[in-house]
Amino acid sequence: MSEHVQFNQKLIDFLDASVSKYHAVSEITKLLTQNGFMRLEERDSWSLEKGGKYFVVRNNSSIIGFVNGEISPQETGLSIVGAHTDSPSLMLKPNPIIRNSGYIQLGVEVYGGALLKPWFDRDLSISGRIFVRDKTGELSERLVDFENPIGFIPSLAIHLNRDANGNSPINAQTDILPILSQENLSDDLTGSPLEELLKSQFMDPEDSLLAHDLYLYDTQPASVIGLSNEFIASRCLDNLVSCYAGIEALLGSSHGKLSMVVLNDHEEVGSLSTTGADGPFLESIIRRLCKSWIDCDEEVVKARSMVLSCDNAHAVHPNFSDKHDPNHRPLLNRGIVIKYNAKQRYATDGFSAAFFKDLCEEDIAVQSFVSRNDMPCGSTIGPLTAGKIGVRAIDIGISQLAMHSCREIIGARDPLYLYKALGKFFSIEQ
Ligand code: CO
Repeated sequence: MSEHVQFNQKLIDFLDASVSKYHAVSEITKLLTQNGFMRLEERDSWSLEKGGKYFVVRNNSSIIGFVNGEISPQETGLSIVGAHTDSPSLMLKPNPIIRNSGYIQLGVEVYGGALLKPWFDRDLSISGRIFVRDKTGELSERLVDFENPIGFIPSLAIHLNRDANGNSPINAQTDILPILSQENLSDDLTGSPLEELLKSQFMDPEDSLLAHDLYLYDTQPASVIGLSNEFIASRCLDNLVSCYAGIEALLGSSHGKLSMVVLNDHEEVGSLSTTGADGPFLESIIRRLCKSWIDCDEEVVKARSMVLSCDNAHAVHPNFSDKHDPNHRPLLNRGIVIKYNAKQRYATDGFSAAFFKDLCEEDIAVQSFVSRNDMPCGSTIGPLTAGKIGVRAIDIGISQLAMHSCREIIGARDPLYLYKALGKFFSIEQ
């Protein structure tokens, strides 16, 4: 079996298990623990060992893993790989139950820049976390995954909307409410069917539900598709592929200098939070790391460090190839994309691009992306991280189709390229 097929099997297992960002962080925690990484709590003081392997979780939605150096980071700097754990989705409102026309539906809020059309006519389930008070008064947080498809958002028949294939906007307040079930005449209309459902599977009878962070997700598992198995289709490829490649690269890292992976939450909603790339998480961990070494100047460390910000890039779509600049049309399975933007929506500049191309050499193909001048450019965690902590950065990623759909497409060969590039990044001097 070829190397990329083997890698993709593990990637697909990870994607299928990561039904929410909380589950993704839980899966990563398991992977790190199984490979000898020790969990650090931010509320404790730390004593770190040279060459030790550690991770820190914040809010159960973001995580930083690192292999401590054998010598002070003052000598080597930090090699940091960044990515984000969240993806666009539909999030349940605090009081989600709606009864309409004989149906029980859920009120949802759009999380991030979701493409809404793909959510229609899919077998949907609910995942995330709940906060519960038990009979002793103790509060606890629990992961929730209903696994079974328990909801759907039916399209309106074309006969009832003749403009459905034309200019037919989707009203996010009224048009995307999923149906959970049908009301029975005998239903007790005072209770919440969602709470009943949660109680039956994730709570004891005497527990009370205090709050939830729950999201819809598409239950269709990830699959390898295409005539020659050249594509992977799944939800959340943006950006769980980068999270997985980064963590796998960190597991193989033992090169004497400090290697780190930071996986932030809230990239899809602007990154400003305790767990986002525009928040204090990474800087706080770097400061504590530097303090654990004698005579280690944090500013020197930062000046010697580099962040590879990994997030997926837009592959050229054959039906809409004019949406790309003619000289910058990334293709699936043709290697890692360096993302450029003169306005610094991406952190890449000549220096960091040269660094990355040199890193990849002949082994790993590299492509370039820059937006058309007449189209707005997206952004990601690279410029935020660079601006926040003052470390040089580059924005790279594998290319994909259908970005922000609930079913996205990547090339089957690209995840392994990314893993290899990140592994090289951890192994070289900078
Ligand atoms: Co992304």
